[in-house]
Amino acid sequence: MSLILHILDETLVKRYIVEFHERDFSGVLPRELKVAKVRGKATAIIGPRRAGKTYYLFSILKEDPQKYLYVDFENPVFYPMTARDFIRVLDAYRELYPEIQKPVVMLDEVQAVPDWERLVRYLLDTGHEVYLTGSSSKPLSAEVATHLRGRALTYTLFPLSFREFLLFRGVEYGERAFYRNYTRIKALLGEYLEYGAYPEVALAPKEAREPILKEYLNVMIKRDVLERHRVRNVYLLNELLYLSLRSYAKYVSIDSLYRLLKGRLKVTKMTIANYLTYLEEAFFLLLLRKYERSPKARVVAPRKLYLIDTGLSLFGSKDIERDMENAVFIELMRMKSSNPRLEFYYWKSPSGHEVDFVVVEERRVKELIQVSADLSDEKTRRREFLALLNASKELKCKNLTVVTLNEEGVERVELYGMKGEIKLVPLTKWLLGREALRNEPETQLPV
Ligand SMILES: Nc1ncnc2c1ncn2[C@@H]1O[C@H](COP(=O)(O)OP(=O)(O)O)[C@@H](O)[C@H]1O
Ligand SMILES: [Mg+2]
Repeated sequence: MSLILHILDETLVKRYIVEFHERDFSGVLPRELKVAKVRGKATAIIGPRRAGKTYYLFSILKEDPQKYLYVDFENPVFYPMTARDFIRVLDAYRELYPEIQKPVVMLDEVQAVPDWERLVRYLLDTGHEVYLTGSSSKPLSAEVATHLRGRALTYTLFPLSFREFLLFRGVEYGERAFYRNYTRIKALLGEYLEYGAYPEVALAPKEAREPILKEYLNVMIKRDVLERHRVRNVYLLNELLYLSLRSYAKYVSIDSLYRLLKGRLKVTKMTIANYLTYLEEAFFLLLLRKYERSPKARVVAPRKLYLIDTGLSLFGSKDIERDMENAVFIELMRMKSSNPRLEFYYWKSPSGHEVDFVVVEERRVKELIQVSADLSDEKTRRREFLALLNASKELKCKNLTVVTLNEEGVERVELYGMKGEIKLVPLTKWLLGREALRNEPETQLPV
């Protein structure tokens, strides 16, 4: 047996550091995510591959890059790497910048380092400010919770909000500008729903968008699902993938998937459940639970499936109304990232009335949101309103909203003895004007 000693090449490391500090960061656009810096705690940014985590770190360090030791663990210079090796990287930095004893350390795609929790703890214990990123929800948040026990604050970075999207496209929307640029903003909402909101896609010319998304999807599935979990039943995974791309904003349950697939495939419910979890951890999809009083009922009810980005549905079947609902859901998730006390559910009554989103804060139902592209058909209008009124009565919440494509106003509705005031809000305005529900970043705490 031979003992291979891996030694980091000091010259390469120093070259990496110097070259990094000399990079041009002028093209890095600001993001909305606000992180609270708490002394002695690391800041963890998780989110789907390509959502902009690396650039987010750049947006923080660009003011004064030399104060930061940024390490990209996907760069071969740092592969393989252990916590112990990293001390030598720190030494290399200090030799280059003897006047800065404690750089802010940024560990990008940290899950590539096997004992990274140890490294983070060491850095915190020696008084460094630490940022870390990862492209999977599980390894990172679970590890953070167990090994770093409250020593890191975790934030999720999603693809661009519509506000960020407009900023990336150079369109102002504040106050009067919203009306001045209204036609343009409406057209951009169409693009936002069609191609989604990955930063690179937002900046790319039209013809390049679909190929970029295709590549993102392939890499995400290959690296974050197939390889990470050594998936054996690739055929089943593909089936689940395409089902998700076709059935986003619809209900799924392990049972219904099992019934659908068992005729064609040798599957078990366990495998289906596992693969869905992998897809969820890779941030490909998100599952929304049903609002139920009893926790047990919450667990067994079907979930609603949403995609991390509406652009991905280009590879399934596009539907404007479901794209709208998906975009609203991801925006709600963005809010949750800056206010973890928020919870979201869907609501469905035994008689079949459905409300898309129930907004809960500290056990209180704060708002009921319905998404409906077009209410001009009398039957649709009645169905959506009736569902809201039913939910309003049962959940004791009078704050009712229908997010529409165009219609705006307030309706006083009375049906079957139930009364309510319903706000109709066009999606453009809804996506741009949610600041009120956001909390100050200082309130984000739990990991
Ligand atoms: N804030 C930003 N400003 C400008 N371009 C961005 C920004 N964020 C992301 N991008 C574009 O998207 C690509 C992917 O972003 P990146 O930060 O590498 O994602 P992640 O680290 O989450 O995988 C970048 O290479 C860049 O082209
Ligand atoms: Mg990155």
